[in-house]
Amino acid sequence: MTGDQTAVVILAAGLGTRMKSSLPKVMHPLAGRPMIKHLLAAVESLAPQQACVVIGAEMEAVARAVAPYPTVVQTERLGTGHAVLAAEPVLGGFAGDVLIVYGDTPLISLATMQRMLDVKRAEPRPAVVVLGFRPEDPGAYGRLVVDGSGQLQAIVEAKDASAEQLKIGLCNAGMMVVDGRHLFAFLHAIGNANAKGEYYLTDVVTLAQAQGLACRVAEGDERELIGVNSRADLARAEAFLQETLRQRAMNEGATLIDPATVYFSADTQLGRDVTVGPSVFFGPGVTVGDRVEIRAFCHIEGAVIEEGAIVGPFSRLRPGASVAKGAHVGNFVEIKNATVEEGAKVNHLTYIGDARVGAKANVGAGTITCNYDGFTKGFTDIGEGAFIGSNSSLVAPVKIGAGAIIGAGSVITREVETDALALTRGPHLQRKGWGKAFRTRKDEEKRKKQAEKGDR
Ligand code: UD1
Ligand code: MG
Repeated sequence: MTGDQTAVVILAAGLGTRMKSSLPKVMHPLAGRPMIKHLLAAVESLAPQQACVVIGAEMEAVARAVAPYPTVVQTERLGTGHAVLAAEPVLGGFAGDVLIVYGDTPLISLATMQRMLDVKRAEPRPAVVVLGFRPEDPGAYGRLVVDGSGQLQAIVEAKDASAEQLKIGLCNAGMMVVDGRHLFAFLHAIGNANAKGEYYLTDVVTLAQAQGLACRVAEGDERELIGVNSRADLARAEAFLQETLRQRAMNEGATLIDPATVYFSADTQLGRDVTVGPSVFFGPGVTVGDRVEIRAFCHIEGAVIEEGAIVGPFSRLRPGASVAKGAHVGNFVEIKNATVEEGAKVNHLTYIGDARVGAKANVGAGTITCNYDGFTKGFTDIGEGAFIGSNSSLVAPVKIGAGAIIGAGSVITREVETDALALTRGPHLQRKGWGKAFRTRKDEEKRKKQAEKGDR
């Protein structure tokens, strides 16, 4: 049935002037992922028959981010109504329901989108359904004017609203479903005689009303409907999203000792019985296996941590870090593009970059893989069960054989064979009684000098 077909238009052409940024607004990240990607994930789960994204000129980065969704370009930014009109070449003949979402309202859930479509398809089969919400601070949001029978009569932008209208708590969240058979006729009829001199999408309500068509409101929750216009809004949206992600992690079986201090990325994956200590940051691309313990103050990004491993406190895992089953990575240890194999230990003050630390190897405190000579990166291969003495420098490319032992303080520049001992320290010198004799001599000199002074 055509009535049950859905098309989605995502508006993302705005400059985001209030962000004061050279990055298009919808590319600003929330939980490590551009806003627009959050929205697309929700749209994808709705599985509409058609979808297109309205972008501005010179927004190739946005077009790339939304691919394979088709984009249409709104060359002049004349308002949200004008923006939807740019989709006419794609959706002009579409007779189903057109869901319009704003790229700067990225946290909308599938359930809320679905609820709007349900209202659209229920009696009295309205021509327009607008998503409303009641934000703590209605501020600059458009106000929804609803009559006693639930009919939405108009959306009044804050800048155009009377003092009386500004008292309305029910606001426009920036999402709407419009009957495809009317949408473009409405859009062509919209004028720009308002405070901003823009073609407001919100005027479709008044136009539908004038034709005696029903308009309804579906309500949603502020947490998913915050519109991001400024950096302060961005921070509020981030806070809401982080709360959701923390709750999700706990629901799925992770213990967060102090949830409010743990920051997730949208794609962070945690196994069961994972424990996360206070003040841990997960950047994008992190997967954590079952029973992993992440102790306080870790920064983790682009890393895989397998079951039963212990990371932290104060560890930094950078992209390409892989910590295998039961391995330990301890305090002030940085791992980049390197694998710490099963049961290996890298516990203190160490940099492991472009390397493999073989299973059960033990890397002593202060070990550094010197992976960069200013021009190229070299690989360090540490064999299974090797023991690297504290404060050693492994100058890459270099290979330490399985079971080899490196004496503390060594600078290793050549391959070390399996089970060998390598050390590059200077020879150990010892002179019996030298310290005591030195002190006696110095004391004697001092006494003499003081005696000479007294004579003068
Ligand atoms: C809009 C609504 C307001 C609502 C609020 C919710 C209108 C007229 N006002 O206001 O009622 O409470 O969202 O967050 O719709 N865009 C374009 N082309 C344009 C202008 C905007 O693509 O010419 C896009 C922007 O990229 C953005 C979205 O449309 O994603 C909304 O535009 P914005 O300027 O942020 O509207 P608000 O002032 O927030
Ligand atoms: Mg906005």
